[in-house]
Amino acid sequence: MTGSKRDISRHTAVVGLQWGDEGKGKIVDVLTAQHDVIVRYNGGANAGHTVVVDGKKYALHLIPSGILNADKRCIIGNGVVVDPEKLIEEMDQLRARGIHVTGKNLRVSDRAHVVMPWHKEQDAALEEYMAAVTAGDRGSLAIGTTRRGIGPAYSDKVRRSTAIRMRDLLDPPYLRERLQVICKLRTAELHALGVNTDPLDPVALGDRYIAIGKQLAPYIGDTVYELHDAMARGDSILFEGANAALLDIDHGTYPYVTSSNCSSLGIPAGTGVPGRHLTRVIGIMKAYSTRVGGGPFPTELTCELGHKIRERGREYGTTTGRPRRCGWLDLVAVRYSVMLCGATSVACSLFDVLAGFEELKICVGYRLPNGSSTDRFIPDARGLENVQPIYETLPGWPEPEIAAGNRADLHPNARAYLDRIEAAIGIPIEMVGIGPDRKQTLVAECVS
Ligand code: GDP
Ligand code: IMO
Ligand code: MG
Repeated sequence: MTGSKRDISRHTAVVGLQWGDEGKGKIVDVLTAQHDVIVRYNGGANAGHTVVVDGKKYALHLIPSGILNADKRCIIGNGVVVDPEKLIEEMDQLRARGIHVTGKNLRVSDRAHVVMPWHKEQDAALEEYMAAVTAGDRGSLAIGTTRRGIGPAYSDKVRRSTAIRMRDLLDPPYLRERLQVICKLRTAELHALGVNTDPLDPVALGDRYIAIGKQLAPYIGDTVYELHDAMARGDSILFEGANAALLDIDHGTYPYVTSSNCSSLGIPAGTGVPGRHLTRVIGIMKAYSTRVGGGPFPTELTCELGHKIRERGREYGTTTGRPRRCGWLDLVAVRYSVMLCGATSVACSLFDVLAGFEELKICVGYRLPNGSSTDRFIPDARGLENVQPIYETLPGWPEPEIAAGNRADLHPNARAYLDRIEAAIGIPIEMVGIGPDRKQTLVAECVS
């Protein structure tokens, strides 16, 4: 690693450039060795980051992927919504597999908002309600959420008076007082959504969450100061994005998005680290496209080719197990996300999945309903639903024989595919993923 200990370019952000599941977890794991602190800044247990180390597979939802490296510190930032029961479950699962998790190497922001049990009920009930009142796949206002309570928890954060933060779990009288009010109102709201629930019991919930607070107390603190103290000591920070730019609440394919700023724009607010520190932003893109849940997807392949990509890439959700929708690479979308995230380089993951196709298509523009065309993304579901992709066709390549090493060793057609991406997005491809294991990565030093 070059530069002095205080060189701010040592900090790195890893963000998804498509609709999620680009392989962020794997790339964070690869980069963890170069950093001291790994921070999640957004989302919650809707994320599913898979890391494969020496043939062992780990699925992380709330805890940063850096936890797999014993000497690193991990932080769940203030921008995350934390389901504390899921967090404890994840800690236990990691410990059962020999991973070290203590209040020293895992810190949770006292300002992070809590996902309460009713948030998951609200999430599911709203999805059912929307699916029932709006007909058909395309017209449905059901978002296809992960039902992890993400939207309702962020709604409460913005509404303020019905929110609970991690620090509140450490203050029993205050928590009990809040629960008295929230339970009454929330029971009525759940009934209005058609949930046939008994009145929420503030005493029982108080007991349950005060006990959780006691258990999590060693982990909870002011992570904003902790991060700034670490940077002042010269530590380098790795920001781990969850979800992805096209699911960003402000800049994604609204309303088929998640409820946080999951592009790199969410980092300053979600961690308390100012944007000027974000000088290295690595955008992660799959060599093709996938999407889980509802919403427009111009390059989607509903034919046999889509099925082939799904099976070769094992495209089934890490969090919900749902089959992912698959399609050709959409460079209009990726170029937009690169711009939005200020990406300085790209990691192109799951490149191995594309071997063995006779030819491949890449979307380079959209045809609009009025017959004109554009190379600009349309970050709005209704606008994007009505475009037709304009494709370039590239020749395919056979299964590669290399397991790691040099991009120059790839088949010429495979190299041409990567060159075409670089030409379109205007920044270098720093890494190429050729398998799920951390070793199966072609890195910048080896790229010709
Ligand atoms: P994330 O949410 O962005 O971290 O991605 P997921 O973990 O949900 O999904 C990516 C999937 O692809 C996981 O099963 C990874 O193990 C796997 N993966 C990551 N990079 C590669 C790669 O280069 N090639 C292959 N074949 N699989 C990969
Ligand atoms: P990672 O970090 C893929 C999608 C859901 C749904 C929409 C809203 O693994 O890349 P939510 O539960 O957040 O309210 O759902 O966003 N979604 C993801 N899709 N990967 C993710 O995370 C996702 N997180 C949310 O499928 O369409
Ligand atoms: Mg995932």
